[in-house]
Amino acid sequence: MMAGTAPAVFDLQRVRADFPILSRTVNGRPLRYLDNAATTQKPRAVLDAIASYYTGINANVHRGVHELSQQATDAYEAARERVRAYFNAGSVREVIFTRNATEGINLVAYTFARARLKPGDEVIISAMEHHSNIVPWQLACEATGAHLRVAPIDDRGELILEEFDRLLTPSTRIASITHMSNALGTVTPVREIVRLAHAKGVPVLIDASQAAYHMRVDVKAIDCDFLVATGHKLYGPTGIGVLYGKEAHLQDMPPFMGGGDMISSVTFERSTWNVLPYKFEAGTPDIAGAIGLHAALDYIEATGLEAIAAHERDLLTYGTGLLQAIDGVRIIGTARDKASILSFVMEGVHPHDIGTIVDREGVAIRTGHHCAQPVMARFGIPATARASLAMYNTREELDVLGRALQQVREVFA
Ligand SMILES: Cc1ncc(COP(=O)(O)O)c(C=O)c1O
Repeated sequence: MMAGTAPAVFDLQRVRADFPILSRTVNGRPLRYLDNAATTQKPRAVLDAIASYYTGINANVHRGVHELSQQATDAYEAARERVRAYFNAGSVREVIFTRNATEGINLVAYTFARARLKPGDEVIISAMEHHSNIVPWQLACEATGAHLRVAPIDDRGELILEEFDRLLTPSTRIASITHMSNALGTVTPVREIVRLAHAKGVPVLIDASQAAYHMRVDVKAIDCDFLVATGHKLYGPTGIGVLYGKEAHLQDMPPFMGGGDMISSVTFERSTWNVLPYKFEAGTPDIAGAIGLHAALDYIEATGLEAIAAHERDLLTYGTGLLQAIDGVRIIGTARDKASILSFVMEGVHPHDIGTIVDREGVAIRTGHHCAQPVMARFGIPATARASLAMYNTREELDVLGRALQQVREVFA
């Protein structure tokens, strides 16, 4: 499917045909890829964009006056504009390319947060964060004497908003909350979270790593101070991520890493910093990654985010019913607002064994703690099995998973 040619209706078979890897087999069976929360597969448009950059343009950006360098710079900056539009940021100065979401969170923790934190101050996260949205704040707290506060979740896996509100105190310097849990599928009320925090003068970082490929994420509507996303979950390549930051914050923040591209001038006595967004992009960036991400976002928009979301909702409902019908299966994460994740445990069977048995049928699911050990602790389990959905998945793939899970039951009966 070409960018800009949005189909009137969501054409699942056409979408599937755009993803070359979906035609391969695994263990002699058709691949049923249900590990999308870990990373999504790439449409041909993304693979072609990367290949044509390397075959036709390859040059460093922002440096040469020669034609290739200008073309590379134009393509890289066009990708930034694409990201700006996708997240509805006000300006490309607010869009920083990073390696991934993790780097974006670390950037904010090291620059914005550490400069503000002093002993006794507080940072708020939630009980359903990915390790990438826990550990950078732990490090920042350890370095400054600040304390990490954790907003609890209920038995469905929903953030308890009143508790979050209660944790916001005059000592709170920043809150960093996920838009969607990778372990539970919970979608959080980000606008309300930001409204509550701002009412107490607390800036908010939103981790949109999961949300960004399932639903419209609009930084102006959310009014967050920072937001991170990661290219490889957005059907784009690995090695490229995005940090959005309000311009006023980014202006005030010191650089994160030093080196080429982020400087304006260098002497041995003193260096000065480049303007936004380059101040935060030290060294040669992932040019091909940005170009691949551009193609990925074009692809999502051409397919239609709303149509993708509707299709995934159908799959989630279907998959939930299917799992509930299997003896001994318990779904972990039953939030009222939930997207594209089916985390579950099966009585008497370790998730690892589930993953191994269903893999024989060509079904790729995730088993383990999903980089969210505190979530597992909250539910009193060591791990779950997780099927996670993307635009190209089908009900038939879920049927195969269901049959494979019946086999697991029989093996362990
Ligand atoms: C909610 C969430 N946050 C952060 C991350 C980290 O993403 P990355 O490893 O690409 O930085 C992930 C990845 O699984 C995630 O699901």
